[in-house]
Amino acid sequence: VKGGYATFMDKEIHEQPTAVADTLRGRVDERGELVLDEMRIDPAVLRRVDKIIVIACGTAAYAGHVAKYAIEHWCRIPVEVELAHEFRYRDPVVSEKTLTVAISQSGETMDTIQAVRHAREQGSKVLAIVNTYGSTIAREADAVLYTHAGPEVAVASTKAFLAQITACYLLGLYLAQLRGNKWPDEVADYLTDLGRMPDKIQQVLDTQAETVQALGAELADRPSFLFLGRHVGFPVALEGALKLKELAYVHAEGFAAGELKHGPIALIEEGLPVFVIVPTPRRPVLHDKVIANIQEIRARGARTIVIAEEGDEAVAPFADDVIRVPATPTLMWPLLTVVPLQVFAAALATAKGLDVDQPRNLAKSVTVE
Ligand code: M6R
Repeated sequence: VKGGYATFMDKEIHEQPTAVADTLRGRVDERGELVLDEMRIDPAVLRRVDKIIVIACGTAAYAGHVAKYAIEHWCRIPVEVELAHEFRYRDPVVSEKTLTVAISQSGETMDTIQAVRHAREQGSKVLAIVNTYGSTIAREADAVLYTHAGPEVAVASTKAFLAQITACYLLGLYLAQLRGNKWPDEVADYLTDLGRMPDKIQQVLDTQAETVQALGAELADRPSFLFLGRHVGFPVALEGALKLKELAYVHAEGFAAGELKHGPIALIEEGLPVFVIVPTPRRPVLHDKVIANIQEIRARGARTIVIAEEGDEAVAPFADDVIRVPATPTLMWPLLTVVPLQVFAAALATAKGLDVDQPRNLAKSVTVE
């Protein structure tokens, strides 16, 4: 069942190129145009949408965070990302002009189900981005855009996360085209970028996994880790920290790199491992600021583990360890940079002798509030 892998998580990490490819399959036609037949919400309603609220929990919520950057950029619609349990029990501003997007691997997360019901009661259309066919969220939503990641068995979500980002991007491009923010040829360019991701993810697995696994084993006794990212790298940092917490039971925190000086830098001490996700040097506004952050933490003794684009030599003087990923447009960056963080968390947990597929105190789907 594990296909020759030691754990389901390892298998699912390696299935990520396929998960992304399968989520794209059938949704891009031979002319490179987007076809989303399952988008069963009246286009007139979608044209009127003035706000998108993403509701989700855990890793699915981080996929929503990533999607916010893309959808706001492409569609000029404000996107709020809400933890489903927080959304449900305050008094959120939802109307007929709100599109609610519920993201869930299982489709059975009770917090998300309750939030879906609440949004629909307020008159919002709900689009579900779900991996499990026929699940409660899929049945209750107005439309479903399935992630075709295949069954995810390990408690820690990996391939579902990449498939969720992919599906969110398809949604964003669909809306951008429908609402006239983007022409079909521009959408086709982004679809081409997305279509290149499975090979690039494979490349990260082929070239970096071994180094990252060795690092996981080496750092298995450390009590605390930080993760820094900027722009789309920020939710990736949060996801990297979540993976480590749930699998290895160590303190791990993700921060927006720009937030360092506003508090977290006080945590930096000699030898503290800090992962930093460095944006492409082709976006110097983002890149150079993160380089400055690495310098700041390095000067205070942190062990800097840097995820950077191939050929980005600016990181070298300040990085104790460098993990290289292929060059890719900024919005596609999370699909590559999260992969080493998943591999790292699994390797560290394995080195500690822990059950990677079934961490303590956790269930694969959280069916109670
Ligand atoms: O099935 P869902 O996507 O609704 O689950 C949401 C979270 O419970 C889930 O992503 C959880 O955070 C994972 N264990 C993270 O690896």
